[in-house]
Order: sequence, then structure tokens, then C-alpha cells
Amino acid sequence: MSGKGLEGITAADSAICSIDGEKGELRYRGYDIHELAEASTFEEVVFLLFDGELPSRAGLAADTKRLARERAIPAALVDQLRAIPRDAHPMASLRTAVSLLGHHEPDAESHDPIVRRQISERLVACTGTLVAALHRLSLGKEPLAPKPELGLAANFLYLASGEVPSDAAARAIDVALILHADHGFNASTFSARVTAATLSDVISAATSAIGTLKGPLHGGANEKVIEMLLQIDEEGIEPEAFVLRSLEQGEKIMGFGHRVYRTEDPRATHLRRMSKALADSTGDRKWFEMSQQIEDAMREAKGLNCNVDFYSASTYHQLGLPTRLFTPLFAVSRMAGWTAHVLEQLADNRLIRPRAKYVGPGPRPYVPTTDRS
Ligand SMILES: CC(C)(COP(=O)(O)OP(=O)(O)OC[C@H]1O[C@@H](n2cnc3c(N)ncnc32)[C@H](O)[C@@H]1OP(=O)(O)O)[C@@H](O)C(=O)NCCC(=O)NCCS
Repeated sequence: MSGKGLEGITAADSAICSIDGEKGELRYRGYDIHELAEASTFEEVVFLLFDGELPSRAGLAADTKRLARERAIPAALVDQLRAIPRDAHPMASLRTAVSLLGHHEPDAESHDPIVRRQISERLVACTGTLVAALHRLSLGKEPLAPKPELGLAANFLYLASGEVPSDAAARAIDVALILHADHGFNASTFSARVTAATLSDVISAATSAIGTLKGPLHGGANEKVIEMLLQIDEEGIEPEAFVLRSLEQGEKIMGFGHRVYRTEDPRATHLRRMSKALADSTGDRKWFEMSQQIEDAMREAKGLNCNVDFYSASTYHQLGLPTRLFTPLFAVSRMAGWTAHVLEQLADNRLIRPRAKYVGPGPRPYVPTTDRS
């Protein structure tokens, strides 16, 4: 077996997240994602991922307050963010911003587990602030100060747009954050663990993960999905015809297929529902219906189900979120999973170092440049 893409390979034990790809089940620390999406909050999920247990009522209040206090970013860091080109890819900007944040962490190099945990919490608390600040700077606007009385989701929307969101919009983003918070040894989490396992630092591990999430085969897919919907709308082509044309040209349809799920991605179930609810509430059903038609066409043509990225695109678009924020929002949420995995890795560390099966030329003598044609 070549192990291409490490498919089916178990790389370590983890007690954070379980996925049953045959049954379409996803659990964080044993709790079903459907129950968490219905009843929990992102803040609670963060501490569930970190600590392994649901916090007590008093514990959650204290944890949430602490997280709210950590949301602000230093003014000197905001000044450094001004040097990032305005038209840079938003995930490239976020990668740089998180890396810069490390220079404002006095104990960034500490190997003390308590310090690592504090840095992890700060990363989860302020990634949304960084994303929103970068967004506003890219528009030539000044970043805003977080509002401690708002939850992380509402605060993110406020910092990005300058307007306190409706409860419904804040809850929609809160649920999206819950759904994206962790997903086992996905590519970005694996890269975070590989970096952490060298005994580098938490910020470096988070930076590796952001670079990995950026790709269109991973987190970047949600951005590509909305680009596809906008293209279909602009061309005035039937969604089914667009799908068939793209497949004939050998292109992948973003937001479909998954390495692990053989049935519906349980996160897609919620996002489809959210996309529909938004369409019902505004009466503008275009984006939801177009998505449904693409979903039907993909099932018919390829037997592929949609993944988490597909309906998140029409959901975010209907919420008025700029496309540039789609993948960074994924990072705001997944920062919880990345850092939980880094802490787990370091609690029982061993260098992650697989081998490659060599398939290149056999041994041969070096030829000096003077003897080469
Ligand atoms: C998610 C993904 C990277 C999984 O990749 P993988 O496990 O390596 O699977 P492969 O890319 O090898 O795909 C297996 C087969 O399904 C096809 N396929 C997979 N996803 C497809 C898609 N989105 N559109 C069209 N065909 C697809 C492949 O072409 C391949 O067909 P083949 O065997 O005839 O060559 C892949 O499904 C994909 O690229 N999807 C689009 C990007 C995306 O939505 N990413 C977000 C993931 S949450």
C-alpha cells in the first residue's frame, strides 16, 4: 500500500473528536455534534475541547469572561498589520498576523503547560479580532475595539461590520463556529500537531495550520463555492448544466466529496437548514435553491454528498458576510481544535516523522559540471 495522502492511516491516539464516516457521525469528546449545534455555544465548545468535559455553570461563566478579556490585540500589533498589503489573500494576511502576535507574547517560547494553555486561550479569543482588523484595514477603515459584553460570534460580526448584529445573525455564526471547531486529524490540525511535536511553540503550530487551511482542497473551498454560485448567477446558466459542463472539463465541484464521510457530512445537515431558514426569512431563495440544484446534480452525476463548505457559502453570503471573510471565519473556529490538539500532542509527545517510499533513480556517480553537456 502506497499510503498516498495517508488515507486510512491512524497517526496517533486522540481523545478530542471522533468521526464515523460510514454513519455520518461527528462527536466532540463524546458529545454528538447535532446536540452541540442545537444547545451549546462556541465558548462552551472551546472549553469542552480543551478540558474534555462540559464546564460547570459557574466555570463556564468564568471561562467566558476570561475569553472576552483576551479578545483585544495590542495597538503595536495593529500598527504592524497596517504594513500588510491591502489586497493580500485574507488567509495569507491572517497567517502573518498570527505569526506577528507571537512577538507580543512574552512567554511565547515557554514549555510550561499552563503557559501554553494560556496562549492557546488567547489565540482562540483574539483570532476573530485579528481577522476583523485585517478586513477593516483592507477596506481603508480603522479596526474597532471588541465589546466585552458580546459573545465571540456577535463580537466578530460587530468588529468586521461596525454594527452590533441581530440575535439571529449572531446565533447563526455561533452555530457555524461550533460546527467547524474540530474535525480529527484533518490536514490543518495534522500540520499543527507536526509542528508542535518538534517542540516548537503554540503560535508556530497555529501559523502552520493557517497556511494549511488556506488551500482550496481544505478550508478555502467555501470561498470557491460562493464564487461558483456567483458565476452561475452571472452566466444565467442552469446549475445542473454548469455542474455537468465542469465535470466534463475534468474540474472538481468545490464543497463536495470528503476523505472520511461516505454518507452526509453531519455538519452539512445543519448548514443546509441554516441556509434554508435564511432564505425563508428574507424571501430571497435564489442562493439556497441554486445550491440545492447543484447538490441534486452532483448526487445524480457523481454520487457525491456535499461537505461542510458547501452550504456554509450560501449561509454566510445570505448573512451579508464578505467572501473574503469565509475562510478566515473557519480559522476563527478551528483555532479551538488546533490548539486543543497541540496541547494534547504535547501532553504525550513524540516527534511525528513518517517515511517516504523511495521511487527515484538508483545509485549513480556524480558528474562534475565540466563533464556535463
Ligand atoms: C475533499 C477532497 C479533497 C477529498 O479528497 P480525496 O479523499 O483525496 O478524494 P479524491 O480527490 O481522490 O477523489 C476521489 C474521486 O472522487 C472524485 N471527486 C472527489 N471530490 C470531487 C468533487 N468535489 N468534484 C468532482 N469530483 C470529485 C475525484 O475526481 C475522484 O474521482 P476518480 O477516482 O474518478 O479520479 C475532495 O473530495 C475534493 O477535492 N473536494 C473538493 C474540495 C472541497 O470541497 N474541500 C473541502 C473538504 S471539507
